[in-house]
Amino acid sequence: MKVTVFGIGYVGLVQAAVLADAGHSVCCVDIDESKIDALKQGVIPIFEPGLAAIVKENYQAGRLVFTTDPEQGVDFGELQFIAVGTPPDEDGSADLQYVLAVAETIALHMKSHKIIIDKSTVPVGTADRVAEKIKATLIQGNKAALEFDVVSNPEFLKEGAAVNDCKKPDRIIIGTDSSHAENAMRELYAPFNRNRDRIIVMDVRSAELTKYAANCMLATKISFMNEMSNLAEKLGADIEMVRQGIGADERIGYHFIYPGCGYGGSCFPKDVQALVRTANSIGYEAQILKSVEAVNAAQKYKIIEYINHYFKDGVQGKTFALWGLAFKPNTDDMREAPSRVIMEALWEMGARVHAFDPEAMEEAQRIYQGREHLSLMGTKEAALKQADALIICTEWQNFRAPDFEVIKQQLKYPVIFDGRNLYQPKTVEKYGLDYFSIGRQS
Ligand code: UGA
Repeated sequence: MKVTVFGIGYVGLVQAAVLADAGHSVCCVDIDESKIDALKQGVIPIFEPGLAAIVKENYQAGRLVFTTDPEQGVDFGELQFIAVGTPPDEDGSADLQYVLAVAETIALHMKSHKIIIDKSTVPVGTADRVAEKIKATLIQGNKAALEFDVVSNPEFLKEGAAVNDCKKPDRIIIGTDSSHAENAMRELYAPFNRNRDRIIVMDVRSAELTKYAANCMLATKISFMNEMSNLAEKLGADIEMVRQGIGADERIGYHFIYPGCGYGGSCFPKDVQALVRTANSIGYEAQILKSVEAVNAAQKYKIIEYINHYFKDGVQGKTFALWGLAFKPNTDDMREAPSRVIMEALWEMGARVHAFDPEAMEEAQRIYQGREHLSLMGTKEAALKQADALIICTEWQNFRAPDFEVIKQQLKYPVIFDGRNLYQPKTVEKYGLDYFSIGRQS
């Protein structure tokens, strides 16, 4: 099939590449000329395992086309994905200006029936607004007779596993009341729907809410566990034992119940806030979601609490080695990362940071360019040199079995503040190191 994707950001590029890899022809449209030029040269703007190879291969095979020309994009496919960003407004609600601008562009150039697919995470009711925008633009352009469908087809990609998630989806949600659009979407996703039927067709608004409900449920699990970890700490229990104990119940399960220094990324914080706003706008107070957000915001300061408890005279002039800048492993993304809250709090208190991350060094450089109290170090060992203490913010595989002897030798104060519970307290303490982790006794 011929498909157009507007917005070659994270979601758009992964979706386009995976569709092309399955044999579809995909035209990628973005207003950012430098990004499109770079993609044509094989330069991928994000770090995502497996993505560069399929982009290159399918571009060379002619199944992926990159352009900044919207007219070319609209002419290309009957299926038109909208995958542009929906950044949070000042009040936390999703900003739809880019989505609506693409809707207008499609209407301006369309000459035949189009199926417009909302892929971006958009509030309930957006498909209706997209349809209104298209209709109004068609009327203005004397093209009122042209027909179109708007479909909600949310993505469920995890950063770091996006290509795989896209190739092997748990479910494919199609929100539409048009049988023509449903059939086209079924054909599009047929290569990813083998062995068992993963397609769930529903009305548009339910599809839009499904996306938020999924992310908010996952964020709720994490904040719930973080709240339990705070209780465990105060009650003399070990949250890691509690986690295993409750995860064994299949109704609860082991996924997304890892306590830590808070969730980050471009999705959970934004989507929880956006749903709270949506609820407000219809006069409903989303009490659970507000608490999920509040617990997470507080959790990002947990490590700072431990540090203040340990360094009773303050940390002015102290240097902290910090392992893990990305909001989670296998990505270079630092959006809403706990590391940022922790580093910024340390700087505020007059401390220095020696940071290392296996992938996010360039991103840290971009965000904190010229920052006086930050040194970006080439290895995790280098970060320890001249440091007073060690902080861990991200559970990279490479941090799981460090040489504790070296840590002990390098640090001026033998202490690890671990925001991801990577080690057994007994093991660390055996090396003469103090160990503060989340929801356990230290
Ligand atoms: C999340 C969802 O998992 C995807 O299903 C969804 O498609 C995506 O948002 C999106 O809306 O686009 P992502 O933000 O890439 O994906 O990251 P996750 O793997 O979900 O991790 C989010 C955060 O939660 C990380 O900071 C992670 O460290 C934290 N986390 C996760 C915990 O603190 N504990 C856990 O048990 C699991």
